[in-house]
Amino acid sequence: MKLYLKIWRQKDANSKGKMVDYTVEGVEGDMSFLEMLDVLNEDLIKQGDEPIEFDHDCREGICGTCSLQINGRPHGPDTRITVCQLHMRKFNDGDTIVIEPFRAKAFPVIKDLIIDRSAFERIQQAGGYVSVNTSGNTVDANAIPIEKEMADKSFNAATCIGCGACVAACKNASAMLFTSAKVSQFALLPQGRVEAADRVRNMVRQMDLEGFGNCTNTGACEVECPKGISLENIARMNREYLTATAKG
Ligand code: SF4
Ligand code: FES
Repeated sequence: MKLYLKIWRQKDANSKGKMVDYTVEGVEGDMSFLEMLDVLNEDLIKQGDEPIEFDHDCREGICGTCSLQINGRPHGPDTRITVCQLHMRKFNDGDTIVIEPFRAKAFPVIKDLIIDRSAFERIQQAGGYVSVNTSGNTVDANAIPIEKEMADKSFNAATCIGCGACVAACKNASAMLFTSAKVSQFALLPQGRVEAADRVRNMVRQMDLEGFGNCTNTGACEVECPKGISLENIARMNREYLTATAKG
């Protein structure tokens, strides 16, 4: 396949970026999207040009770093997958592909296609944990019985990989789907109830401080989430927040 690429290039966080045209040849359908970018970068290096910077780590859909806006969609044209799992067979010979970083005020571009997602880490640090007193005997993990339905919902919420596609898909750049997944994974379990009120108050406060927008229930986040995190989590977080703030 021969492909025509329009890629966002930006020298650093303080420079103005622009779209630059590239052509890449010899792309196989079995290559991943990142492997296609590897081929392009090898060509650029051979020509003495600067390669395109993009984030990646696991290349297995686990780490959430490979976030790109491809033809206007977070993680590209396929559903329920990350960019590293997107195969080039989804494209046709001669296609033009537009590749940009995720766009949100709270995710500033560092270089080319790499964004700073540390806002998500600060939201996590504000309450995305369970405090455990480690002195004394360790309690068996299965000592507290948990209803299967609750355990499954908690597990599903915990599959959020913090990729940021929900923010990129949202017209308000809201981080409600991400934050609600991180709140829900604990709120659904007895171990998480002890700090539930403080957790939701602190995480929502941090989310607002980071400059993410408000949720207006369009549902674009759920559609583009590679892990299928449900809007149900946002409803749960709103209930948790109302209860926590009513308690003062
Ligand atoms: S909720 Fe989905 S889209 Fe948002 S960060 Fe988590 S995995 Fe990514
Ligand atoms: S590189 Fe880790 S999810 Fe894509």
